[in-house]
Amino acid sequence: MTNLPSAPVQSAADGGPLGAPRLGQVHVGDCLDVMRRMPADSVDLIVTSPPYADARKHTYGGIAPDDYVAWFTERADEMLRILKPTGSFVLNIKEKAVDGERHTYVLELILALKKETGFRWVEEYIWHKTTAAPGKWKYRFRDSWERILHFSKTKDVKMRQDAVRVPIGDWTAARLSNMSANDRARQESATNSGVGRRIAAWEGKRTVYPSNVLHKSPICHNTGHSAAFPEWLPEFFINLFTDEGDVVLDPFAGSGTTFRVASQLQRIPIAIELNHEYVTEVNYGDEQIKLDF
Ligand SMILES: C[S@@+](CC[C@H](N)C(=O)[O-])C[C@H]1O[C@@H](n2cnc3c(N)ncnc32)[C@H](O)[C@@H]1O
Repeated sequence: MTNLPSAPVQSAADGGPLGAPRLGQVHVGDCLDVMRRMPADSVDLIVTSPPYADARKHTYGGIAPDDYVAWFTERADEMLRILKPTGSFVLNIKEKAVDGERHTYVLELILALKKETGFRWVEEYIWHKTTAAPGKWKYRFRDSWERILHFSKTKDVKMRQDAVRVPIGDWTAARLSNMSANDRARQESATNSGVGRRIAAWEGKRTVYPSNVLHKSPICHNTGHSAAFPEWLPEFFINLFTDEGDVVLDPFAGSGTTFRVASQLQRIPIAIELNHEYVTEVNYGDEQIKLDF
């Protein structure tokens, strides 16, 4: 992987508090311990996919569904503390099915993050997996979507919407070539909700803002990790919520996808990963110093 920051991380070998982040840092350890040593208000974006409740207990471990909220919120307290006031926390998570029904730990986690930790729940994106694996279960069809939750620390969120504009799509050519008078005037909602639309507003546009449903493939590079991010995922949210030079943390970094993408986008990446085996030079680059705790 090219373009990794080449300067070493700051020394943390003495176990003291970590200073303001400079260039890329890779920490091997429990993110709770590492984040406790990070300064308050120092991270622009946390984007992560945590271990799902004991779904991968045979690979990188997991937490029992009934213990999940308490386990996560202990770490979320630190995430809130180290996030800058304009920062965002992006959480990709999906509840597993237990005993033939969906467990409620993700729903409970959303409520706890808002009501106990104190995060603002800004948005829920749906990641529609366009190439979901085949399969069939007794009471469910194959799982083709995951939640991507956006939380913030304050109402003053840094958001660069123009950085993630998408092509308007082929449908406009036919639709806009044959507009009626109604299409040219604003049409108010029949329910008097105050919501209206004017089809002609799309004329001449090549790109538009994306919706909160992201139709994207789960395909990722083969990193030796069973749950690696596809690169588009951290890339989309890094572009949306940060500028060059901003600090991007993945506290459950696995094979380092967020780290690599943040580096390539000229952000300052910080990765924390519990298992040594994923923190390889191939995944993170050979010039990073790995810190053990
Ligand atoms: C879903 S995976 C993340 C995969 C990552 N997005 C990638 O692209 O490779 C979750 C990771 O969290 C790690 N993990 C579990 N508990 C942790 C903890 N307390 N602190 C840091 N990492 C942890 C696991 O070892 C696993 O690699």
